[in-house]
Amino acid sequence: MTEQKIVLSGMRSTGKIHLGNYFGALKNWVGLQDAYRCYYFAADWHALTSDYADPSQIAVNTLEMVVDWIAAGLDPAKSTIFVQSMVPDHAELHLLFSMITPLGWLERVPTYKEQMQQIESKDLSTYGFLGYPVLQTVDIAIYRAHFVPVGEDQASHLEISREIVRRFNHLYQREVFPEPQGLFTPTAKVPGIDGRKMSKSYGNAINLSDSPDVIRQKCMQMFTDPQRLRRTDPGRPEVCNLYDFHKLVSPPEVQERVARECRAATIGCVDDKKLLAQILIDYLEPFRRRREELERDRDTVYDILVEGSKKARERTAETLEQVREVIGLDYRKALAEKV
Ligand code: TRP
Repeated sequence: MTEQKIVLSGMRSTGKIHLGNYFGALKNWVGLQDAYRCYYFAADWHALTSDYADPSQIAVNTLEMVVDWIAAGLDPAKSTIFVQSMVPDHAELHLLFSMITPLGWLERVPTYKEQMQQIESKDLSTYGFLGYPVLQTVDIAIYRAHFVPVGEDQASHLEISREIVRRFNHLYQREVFPEPQGLFTPTAKVPGIDGRKMSKSYGNAINLSDSPDVIRQKCMQMFTDPQRLRRTDPGRPEVCNLYDFHKLVSPPEVQERVARECRAATIGCVDDKKLLAQILIDYLEPFRRRREELERDRDTVYDILVEGSKKARERTAETLEQVREVIGLDYRKALAEKV
């Protein structure tokens, strides 16, 4: 039997998951669990690259994020779910990879310059922040992962990961690491309730854990076709923010009917908002049930992470053993040769 292919992915510990995160990556993760050996982790050290001055929220954010993962269908019985800092082997391999990664490669990663310019409130001119893609490469390589399901925004990170592992294999003349391939989720358009990209920092997100009342309120605030001012004006689903949500969560026949009735002005925006809110609430109902179950015992998630991290370390220990061997800081051998 050939060994099952390995899938690995992670998210920075940012707290509660919203629909953008779900449709952008998490849904894909859930779907891969039966066909692959999957590792999914909370990148708390990556959160530290930008939040080092105030790390007080990182641990809480990690727990909240993982509760949402499991509520959304990640199953600790199928996948290894863990926390980066609970597997300190990542740090050793990060040091070793940092030795072989040319500075120019890191300086050229497009997200590096963008983030430096955009995030003015934090000083990101640190060694650790420049090394973000090196740590990400390690996260993947240390599991000898083949596939990395991520959003398209991670494409440049995946590219440098492939280059770094190729360089390692070449320098030490052994195929220790497979070249990881991205499994990119075609970026389903997930607008926030104000029509801009859904993002925690814009305050326009619908969270997986929002209560039915909050979902109804948020749907009521959604932007629709700006030219449809009166109930009797025909609307244009193709420019309607609400309709983008229908495309994500509504059955095809509902999408088709809403589009038709909107164009004919037989359904009004308010009715449509109520309809969408109910569909979303139903869609998230199984998530809500699993979350309630998890929250009955507050230690459950922590235990899952400790257990997952232990399992993860079995894999990383094997990798590091091979890595140390090929780099060859072998003192027994050195002693034997000296005499
Ligand atoms: N950079 C990723 C993000 O912003 C998180 C991440 C860290 C990651 N290490 C990873 C994703 C390894 C995939 C594989 O979401």
